[in-house]
Amino acid sequence: MAKETMPTPGGDKEWAYLGSRAFQSRYALAAWQLEDVDHIVEIGGYRTPITGFVRTPKKSVTVIDPHITPLSAETLLGQPCKVRHVPAFFQDWKEYPESYGLVLLGLDFELYEVSRKLRAEILDQFVPVVRAASRIVMEAATDWTASRWLAGWVEKTTGYRRSLDLVIEMQGDLGVDLSNSWPPLRKRHLIVLDR
Ligand SMILES: C[S@@+](CC[C@H](N)C(=O)[O-])C[C@H]1O[C@@H](n2cnc3c(N)ncnc32)[C@H](O)[C@@H]1O
Repeated sequence: MAKETMPTPGGDKEWAYLGSRAFQSRYALAAWQLEDVDHIVEIGGYRTPITGFVRTPKKSVTVIDPHITPLSAETLLGQPCKVRHVPAFFQDWKEYPESYGLVLLGLDFELYEVSRKLRAEILDQFVPVVRAASRIVMEAATDWTASRWLAGWVEKTTGYRRSLDLVIEMQGDLGVDLSNSWPPLRKRHLIVLDR
Protein backbone atom coordinates (compact mmCIF):
# COMPACT_ATOMS: atom_id res chain seq x y z
CA MET A 1 0.00 0.00 0.00
CA ALA A 2 1.27 3.52 -0.85
CA LYS A 3 2.55 5.55 2.11
CA GLU A 4 0.09 8.27 3.20
CA THR A 5 1.43 11.75 2.45
CA MET A 6 0.65 14.97 4.30
CA PRO A 7 -2.09 17.12 2.71
CA THR A 8 -1.14 20.70 1.71
CA PRO A 9 -1.96 22.79 4.79
CA GLY A 10 -4.88 25.13 4.15
CA GLY A 11 -5.85 23.39 0.90
CA ASP A 12 -6.51 25.93 -1.88
CA LYS A 13 -7.30 28.83 0.47
CA GLU A 14 -5.06 31.22 2.36
CA TRP A 15 -5.14 32.49 5.90
CA ALA A 16 -4.99 36.09 4.61
CA TYR A 17 -6.24 37.57 7.89
CA LEU A 18 -3.04 36.43 9.60
CA GLY A 19 -1.19 39.13 7.68
CA SER A 20 -3.30 41.92 9.21
CA ARG A 21 -1.76 44.25 11.75
CA ALA A 22 -4.23 43.04 14.37
CA PHE A 23 -3.26 39.38 13.96
CA GLN A 24 0.44 40.19 13.72
CA SER A 25 0.23 41.76 17.18
CA ARG A 26 0.07 38.17 18.53
CA TYR A 27 3.59 37.75 17.19
CA ALA A 28 4.81 40.91 18.91
CA LEU A 29 3.49 39.49 22.20
CA ALA A 30 5.08 36.11 21.51
CA ALA A 31 8.50 37.65 20.77
CA TRP A 32 8.29 39.67 23.98
CA GLN A 33 7.79 36.43 25.93
CA LEU A 34 11.02 35.09 24.43
CA GLU A 35 13.34 38.03 25.11
CA ASP A 36 15.57 36.01 27.44
CA VAL A 37 16.02 32.82 25.38
CA ASP A 38 19.07 32.29 23.13
CA HIS A 39 17.46 30.01 20.57
CA ILE A 40 13.99 30.25 19.05
CA VAL A 41 12.24 27.53 17.07
CA GLU A 42 8.92 28.30 15.44
CA ILE A 43 6.74 25.66 13.87
CA GLY A 44 4.11 26.90 11.42
CA GLY A 45 5.41 30.44 10.82
CA TYR A 46 3.48 30.80 7.55
CA ARG A 47 4.04 34.29 6.05
CA THR A 48 4.76 36.24 9.23
CA PRO A 49 7.60 34.28 10.89
CA ILE A 50 8.65 35.25 14.42
CA THR A 51 12.02 36.41 13.01
CA GLY A 52 10.57 39.79 12.04
CA PHE A 53 9.33 40.43 15.59
CA VAL A 54 12.46 39.53 17.57
CA ARG A 55 13.89 42.58 19.37
CA THR A 56 16.72 41.10 21.44
CA PRO A 57 19.85 39.27 20.18
CA LYS A 58 19.52 35.52 19.64
CA LYS A 59 21.99 32.78 18.78
CA SER A 60 19.54 31.15 16.38
CA VAL A 61 16.02 31.51 14.99
CA THR A 62 14.62 28.54 13.07
CA VAL A 63 11.18 28.66 11.48
CA ILE A 64 9.75 25.51 9.92
CA ASP A 65 6.67 25.57 7.71
CA PRO A 66 5.91 24.02 4.31
CA HIS A 67 4.53 27.42 3.19
CA ILE A 68 7.52 29.54 4.20
CA THR A 69 9.88 31.27 1.77
CA PRO A 70 13.36 29.81 2.40
CA LEU A 71 15.90 32.03 4.14
CA SER A 72 19.40 31.43 5.41
CA ALA A 73 21.19 34.30 7.16
CA GLU A 74 24.01 34.66 9.67
CA THR A 75 22.92 37.89 11.36
CA LEU A 76 19.80 39.33 12.96
CA LEU A 77 19.46 42.85 14.37
CA GLY A 78 23.06 43.43 13.28
CA GLN A 79 24.33 40.64 15.59
CA PRO A 80 25.59 37.13 14.76
CA CYS A 81 22.58 34.80 14.63
CA LYS A 82 21.88 31.65 12.63
CA VAL A 83 18.56 32.35 10.93
CA ARG A 84 16.88 29.56 8.99
CA HIS A 85 13.44 29.56 7.39
CA VAL A 86 12.83 26.01 6.32
CA PRO A 87 10.04 25.05 3.90
CA ALA A 88 9.25 21.66 5.45
CA PHE A 89 7.01 19.83 7.86
CA PHE A 90 8.52 19.79 11.35
CA GLN A 91 8.57 15.98 11.15
CA ASP A 92 11.17 16.18 8.38
CA TRP A 93 13.53 18.62 10.14
CA LYS A 94 16.24 17.13 12.33
CA GLU A 95 18.46 20.07 13.33
CA TYR A 96 16.77 21.36 16.47
CA PRO A 97 18.98 23.16 19.03
CA GLU A 98 19.45 21.39 22.36
CA SER A 99 17.10 23.74 24.17
CA TYR A 100 14.96 26.62 22.89
CA GLY A 101 11.91 28.81 23.16
CA LEU A 102 9.21 27.23 21.01
CA VAL A 103 6.60 29.27 19.14
CA LEU A 104 3.36 27.53 18.14
CA LEU A 105 0.76 30.03 17.00
CA GLY A 106 -2.58 29.08 15.49
CA LEU A 107 -1.65 25.46 14.87
CA ASP A 108 -3.68 22.29 14.61
CA PHE A 109 -1.52 20.32 12.10
CA GLU A 110 -4.86 19.48 10.43
CA LEU A 111 -4.77 16.16 12.27
CA TYR A 112 -8.47 15.65 11.47
CA GLU A 113 -7.45 15.28 7.77
CA VAL A 114 -5.19 12.27 8.24
CA SER A 115 -5.58 8.63 9.26
CA ARG A 116 -5.39 7.64 12.94
CA LYS A 117 -2.07 5.96 12.22
CA LEU A 118 -0.47 9.06 10.68
CA ARG A 119 -1.95 11.27 13.38
CA ALA A 120 -0.35 9.08 16.06
CA GLU A 121 2.97 9.16 14.19
CA ILE A 122 2.92 12.97 13.92
CA LEU A 123 2.18 13.37 17.62
CA ASP A 124 4.92 10.87 18.51
CA GLN A 125 7.38 12.94 16.51
CA PHE A 126 6.13 16.11 18.19
CA VAL A 127 6.78 14.82 21.74
CA PRO A 128 10.60 15.35 21.73
CA VAL A 129 10.17 18.74 20.02
CA VAL A 130 7.91 20.13 22.73
CA ARG A 131 9.84 18.50 25.59
CA ALA A 132 13.16 20.00 24.44
CA ALA A 133 11.73 23.53 24.78
CA SER A 134 12.46 25.45 27.96
CA ARG A 135 9.55 27.81 27.25
CA ILE A 136 6.62 27.42 24.91
CA VAL A 137 4.57 30.32 23.58
CA MET A 138 1.48 28.86 22.02
CA GLU A 139 -1.80 30.19 20.83
CA ALA A 140 -5.09 28.55 19.98
CA ALA A 141 -8.17 29.83 18.18
CA THR A 142 -10.84 29.65 20.90
CA ASP A 143 -13.60 28.63 18.47
CA TRP A 144 -11.61 25.94 16.64
CA THR A 145 -11.72 22.61 18.47
CA ALA A 146 -8.64 21.14 16.74
CA SER A 147 -6.52 24.13 17.74
CA ARG A 148 -7.65 23.98 21.37
CA TRP A 149 -7.08 20.25 21.40
CA LEU A 150 -3.47 20.56 20.23
CA ALA A 151 -2.72 23.27 22.81
CA GLY A 152 -4.16 21.00 25.52
CA TRP A 153 -2.06 18.12 24.22
CA VAL A 154 1.13 20.23 24.42
CA GLU A 155 0.33 21.26 27.98
CA LYS A 156 -0.41 17.68 29.05
CA THR A 157 2.60 16.22 27.24
CA THR A 158 5.10 18.64 28.75
CA GLY A 159 3.52 19.05 32.19
CA TYR A 160 5.04 22.57 32.16
CA ARG A 161 3.80 25.40 34.38
CA ARG A 162 1.39 27.86 32.78
CA SER A 163 3.01 31.25 33.40
CA LEU A 164 0.73 33.36 31.19
CA ASP A 165 -2.78 33.01 29.87
CA LEU A 166 -4.09 35.84 27.70
CA VAL A 167 -7.40 36.03 25.89
CA ILE A 168 -7.37 38.22 22.77
CA GLU A 169 -10.21 39.23 20.47
CA MET A 170 -9.57 40.97 17.14
CA GLN A 171 -12.46 43.30 16.42
CA GLY A 172 -13.35 45.56 13.49
CA ASP A 173 -12.14 45.71 9.90
CA LEU A 174 -8.83 43.87 9.52
CA GLY A 175 -7.86 45.89 6.46
CA VAL A 176 -6.90 42.87 4.32
CA ASP A 177 -8.48 41.22 1.27
CA LEU A 178 -10.29 38.12 2.51
CA SER A 179 -11.65 36.98 -0.88
CA ASN A 180 -9.54 33.78 -1.09
CA SER A 181 -9.16 33.34 2.63
CA TRP A 182 -10.51 31.15 5.36
CA PRO A 183 -12.77 33.25 7.59
CA PRO A 184 -10.90 34.92 10.46
CA LEU A 185 -11.03 33.11 13.78
CA ARG A 186 -10.97 36.26 15.88
CA LYS A 187 -10.83 34.94 19.43
CA ARG A 188 -7.45 33.66 20.53
CA HIS A 189 -5.89 32.24 23.64
CA LEU A 190 -2.16 32.94 24.12
CA ILE A 191 -0.49 30.67 26.64
CA VAL A 192 3.08 30.57 27.91
CA LEU A 193 4.41 27.34 29.42
CA ASP A 194 7.65 27.18 31.41
CA ARG A 195 9.64 24.08 32.25
C1 LIG B 1 -3.25 28.57 10.46
S1 LIG B 1 -1.57 28.75 9.94
C2 LIG B 1 -0.91 29.69 11.30
C3 LIG B 1 0.24 30.56 10.86
C4 LIG B 1 0.90 31.44 11.91
N1 LIG B 1 1.56 30.66 12.94
C5 LIG B 1 -0.05 32.42 12.55
O1 LIG B 1 -0.66 32.09 13.57
O2 LIG B 1 -0.22 33.52 12.04
C6 LIG B 1 -0.89 27.14 10.25
C7 LIG B 1 0.49 26.95 9.64
O3 LIG B 1 1.01 25.71 10.11
C8 LIG B 1 1.74 25.11 9.07
N2 LIG B 1 1.84 23.68 9.31
C9 LIG B 1 0.87 22.75 9.26
N3 LIG B 1 1.35 21.53 9.54
C10 LIG B 1 2.69 21.69 9.78
C11 LIG B 1 3.76 20.80 10.13
N4 LIG B 1 3.53 19.49 10.28
N5 LIG B 1 5.00 21.32 10.30
C12 LIG B 1 5.22 22.65 10.14
N6 LIG B 1 4.25 23.54 9.83
C13 LIG B 1 3.00 23.07 9.65
C14 LIG B 1 0.92 25.45 7.82
O4 LIG B 1 1.68 25.35 6.63
C15 LIG B 1 0.47 26.88 8.12
O5 LIG B 1 1.35 27.82 7.57
